[in-house]
Amino acid sequence: MTLTITRLGHHGDGIAEGPVFVPRTLPGEVVEGEIAQGRLAAPRILTPSPERVAAPCPHYKACGGCALQHAREGFVTGWKESVIRQALAAQGLDAPFHAPHISGLHTRRRATFSGRRLKKGALVGFHARASDTVASVPDCLILRPELTAALPLLEDLVTMAGSRKGEMALSLTLSDVGLDLSVTCGKPLDGPLQATLGQWAGANGLARLAWDGEVIAQAAPPLQTFGRAKVAPPPGAFLQATADAQEALQSAVAKAVGDAPRVADLFAGCGTFALPLAEGAEVHAVESVAEMLAALDHGWRHATGLKRVTHETRDLFRNPLLPEDLARFDAVVIDPPRAGAEAQVRALADSAVPRIAAVSCNPVTFARDAKILCDAGYRLDWVQMVDQFRFSPHVELAAAFAR
Ligand SMILES: C[S@@+](CC[C@H](N)C(=O)[O-])C[C@H]1O[C@@H](n2cnc3c(N)ncnc32)[C@H](O)[C@@H]1O
Repeated sequence: MTLTITRLGHHGDGIAEGPVFVPRTLPGEVVEGEIAQGRLAAPRILTPSPERVAAPCPHYKACGGCALQHAREGFVTGWKESVIRQALAAQGLDAPFHAPHISGLHTRRRATFSGRRLKKGALVGFHARASDTVASVPDCLILRPELTAALPLLEDLVTMAGSRKGEMALSLTLSDVGLDLSVTCGKPLDGPLQATLGQWAGANGLARLAWDGEVIAQAAPPLQTFGRAKVAPPPGAFLQATADAQEALQSAVAKAVGDAPRVADLFAGCGTFALPLAEGAEVHAVESVAEMLAALDHGWRHATGLKRVTHETRDLFRNPLLPEDLARFDAVVIDPPRAGAEAQVRALADSAVPRIAAVSCNPVTFARDAKILCDAGYRLDWVQMVDQFRFSPHVELAAAFAR
């Protein structure tokens, strides 16, 4: 069967008429191969796109971590921006785009690896393409070298404490003081295992080791720097994927907020935006995970030169800040999970808050929420694509609204 790829889908797969999904192909390419259940899994490329390049990573063929290494960088950037534009257009919206920010190679500071115990030793890496097997990634192009250098260490850990039945999830983050490792789905923790793991973490210089959410060894608080503050997030907590993208998002948020003296940071996490903003504004941080806010508060109390930062544990899906709660703020930052923030945005639409800085990892829910704001009289001033998930189909963005 011969097909022509017409567009890319949201997972980065090529799509031909049908629709037939053809992984790792590009628009305009003519391909052939066997189709099963709407998918041509192993295409032969008869006519390659001028945008096609040789994948730079040696693991690309086996590893499922990346989906777009076979395309020129400029093509991927344009495609990610077009995903945002199309989501906005579907809601009847448009906006000027600021120049994109693209994270460099070897900048990813946080990754969750899969670990499997084998008859002899262990395998740690990312899931292979369309498979539950694990591909080892010693020369991964996106990870910080400190993370790839730790892979043999993680294999030791899985050999020692992995169960033969399941797969371990190893969430590894580079902190200011060393590696912060949070493990789930390993052997159940008993006294002897805890002692062994504590010794192992100490001998290998880990800043912290957590097992199923419980900290079992900590040589030093695994600090992250947010402006003038240093914060030790709870194990496995959300953190922007690369430090340079975090900086780009912080500066986009600062631009959108301007000189607002009182700011609400909604879905605040551990203070990625709240703490840098507190250099010039009083900030109220709202988030559903109390431990993240405790870390933010601790960081604020130990920093110098920051204005007041208050915090509130609150489920903003069920219990959004209401227009009367919002009346005391001159700007709002909103950075929800993939589902977006429909309930909170409806309350914002009824408020008089003059400026909103939005950060989103899902263009579709962002555009849905943007439509609610624009229908209520807000103007979408600009959008910026921030590519901190290089070679993956994930799209991150910052945007500014004003009324
Ligand atoms: C994309 S993260 C952003 C965190 C932070 N702004 C940052 O950049 O580090 C989304 C945050 O929303 C929080 N969250 C998820 N659901 C929530 C809810 N229903 N109400 C309040 N916060 C929620 C998560 O715990 C997470 O910290």
